[in-house]
Amino acid sequence: MGRQSTLQHPRRYAPLQEGPISYRVSGLEAEYDGGVMRIFATLQLGKGEGVVNEVWQVGSSVVNGVPAKHAFAPENLAASGTLDLIRGESSAGGGVDSTLKKKNIHGVLNAVSWGILLPIGAIIARYLKTFKSADPAWFYLHVSCQIIGYGVGVAGWATGLNLGSKSKGIVYSTHRNIGITLFSLGTLQLFALLLRPKKDHKYRLYWNIYHHAVGYTVIILGIVNVFEGLQILSPENKWKEAYIIVIAILGGIALLLEAVTWIVRKSDKSSKLYDASNGVSG
Ligand code: HEM
Ligand code: HEM
Repeated sequence: MGRQSTLQHPRRYAPLQEGPISYRVSGLEAEYDGGVMRIFATLQLGKGEGVVNEVWQVGSSVVNGVPAKHAFAPENLAASGTLDLIRGESSAGGGVDSTLKKKNIHGVLNAVSWGILLPIGAIIARYLKTFKSADPAWFYLHVSCQIIGYGVGVAGWATGLNLGSKSKGIVYSTHRNIGITLFSLGTLQLFALLLRPKKDHKYRLYWNIYHHAVGYTVIILGIVNVFEGLQILSPENKWKEAYIIVIAILGGIALLLEAVTWIVRKSDKSSKLYDASNGVSG
């Protein structure tokens, strides 16, 4: 139980150490009965301190006589509330609901941008480019899709950093590191807009290699991080399933277009060869 101040997780999950109680308490007593220990104390309230925070937790193991780390499921993290001693009211998880809402917003923004829009943009670039009738539409579609995806993605990324800075002591390093890498590579990729040499410039080949390599890395890491995020938040299974279905559909479309564009390119090539053998340049 604590005073009415903001509830915060401890900075680090080191083993608990014995120490003085930070609050003014008197009449400390304990009883041990049938494997259950109860501790009683009277909490002295200061002036105007009618509302106290309470936290509770469950854990299954004790190591060297000290409770071990508890689980981090959403219910464990939501185990807090406030108790109004004057009005005799209690409310569950004060700020927890709004934190969960923020996490959901973070998840949706990131899943839609890094996890769906950027892969769609790459599909547009890779496959529409093959069809002459789609030139230059594919280019504008690709650029718009990626700029929107990047914009929403950076907003989502920022909400992640904000969430991370509020929950001190809990660090999801893999998710965080992939997130920061994604932001850096995505930003680098947008420089494509400024650095792109003309189509027939001798450095264009290098630009293409850089843009493809960074682009596919962003897409793969983006999808991986969506799964990492789903693992951390562990919402209802249907969300993970829904995302898997979306990715499977995009993968299916990509495979199909891979085959179609391969055939188109092959027939283009053979018609060019035919033209060349007739002395007509293709
Ligand atoms: C985060 C943003 C972006 C990502 C993730 C991305 C990703 C990709 C990927 C994966 C490809 C390769 C498709 C293939 O296999 O052929 C590609 C191609 C291309 N992208 Fe982007 N892109 C982004 C932003 C941009 C921007 C802002 C431009 C504007 C100049 C651009 C212009 C192009 C062009 C011209 C190609 C075709 C290159 C070629 O093969 O000739 N991209 N992009
Ligand atoms: C690929 C896109 C994503 C990026 C770039 C991203 C980025 C981040 C970053 C930078 C953090 C802060 C980590 C820290 O400082 O400890 C974070 C935290 C978090 N993210 Fe993501 N994220 C992504 C996708 C998702 C998704 C799809 C979900 C959920 C479905 C999610 C759920 C969370 C949660 C629950 C946290 C923890 C907040 C806390 O510390 O309590 N993320 N994310």
